[in-house]
Amino acid sequence: MLELHNVSIDIAGVPVLRDVHLVVPPGGRVALIGRNGAGKTTTLRTLMGLLPPRAGRVVIDGQEATAVPPHHRARLGIGYAPEERRLFGSFSVRENMLLPAEVLRLAPAEVARRLDAVFALLPELKDLAPRRAAGLSGGQGKMVALGRALMVGTRAVLLDEPFQGLAPALALRYAEALKRLHQALPDVAILITESNPELLRPLVERTFVIERGEIAAA
Ligand SMILES: Nc1ncnc2c1ncn2[C@@H]1O[C@H](COP(=O)(O)OP(=O)(O)OP(=O)(O)O)[C@@H](O)[C@H]1O
Ligand SMILES: [Mg+2]
Repeated sequence: MLELHNVSIDIAGVPVLRDVHLVVPPGGRVALIGRNGAGKTTTLRTLMGLLPPRAGRVVIDGQEATAVPPHHRARLGIGYAPEERRLFGSFSVRENMLLPAEVLRLAPAEVARRLDAVFALLPELKDLAPRRAAGLSGGQGKMVALGRALMVGTRAVLLDEPFQGLAPALALRYAEALKRLHQALPDVAILITESNPELLRPLVERTFVIERGEIAAA
C-alpha cells in the first residue's frame, strides 16, 4: 500500500533520510520508531508528497507516486495527522474534520457518510463536534486530528507521534480507538511513529527503527 524504495532526502543540503526502505502492506499496522531528529516526521512528509526525494521512489497502491503533489495524494486515500495537529482554533471541531473532505470536493452525501462512520468509531468526537478547536485539551486535539485523517484516509492513515504528551488514561483511550479502527476498517493501513517502542508493540504487526535517517532494523 505504502512503499518507500531507497529514498534519500536532503534538507537545506543536509542528508536527512538515507536509502530508506519501508513497506506498509494493505491493512497493515506498522510502527516507525526513532529518537528525536531520527527522521520520522520527514518519512511521513515524504509519503505525503511534502518533500521531494533526491533519490529513490514512492509507490502508493502499486502506483508510482514520487512526483504526485500532496493534494492529489489525499485523493489516493491517504490521511495524515501531523505531529503538531494543525487544527484551526476559531473553527469548530466539525468544521476542522470537514476541511480535507471539502478540499477534495467530495459529494455532500459521501462527506456525511464518512462523518457518521468516523463518529461511530470515535464517539467522543460527536460530543466535541460543536466546540471551538481552540478550547480543546491536547489529548482531545489528537483525537480530532485522528478523526480528520480518517475523513480522507480510506486506504491509509499516517499518525505522527499521537501518544506524545498524552496522559496515561488518554493514551489508553487513543490506543483503544486504534484497535476499534482496525476491527471496523481492516483494509485501512496505519503507519504510526513513536520514540518508545513498548507503547506501540500491542498495536502493530511490524516495527521499523530509524536512526539518523537510516532504517536500522525491521
Ligand atoms: N526544515 C528543516 N530544516 C533543517 N533541518 C531539518 C528540517 N526539518 C527537519 N530537519 C532535520 O532533519 C532531521 C530529521 O527530522 P525529523 O523531524 O524527521 O525527525 P523526527 O524523527 O520526526 O524527530 P522528533 O521526534 O523530534 O519529531 C533532524 O536532524 C532535523 O533537524
Ligand atoms: Mg517528528
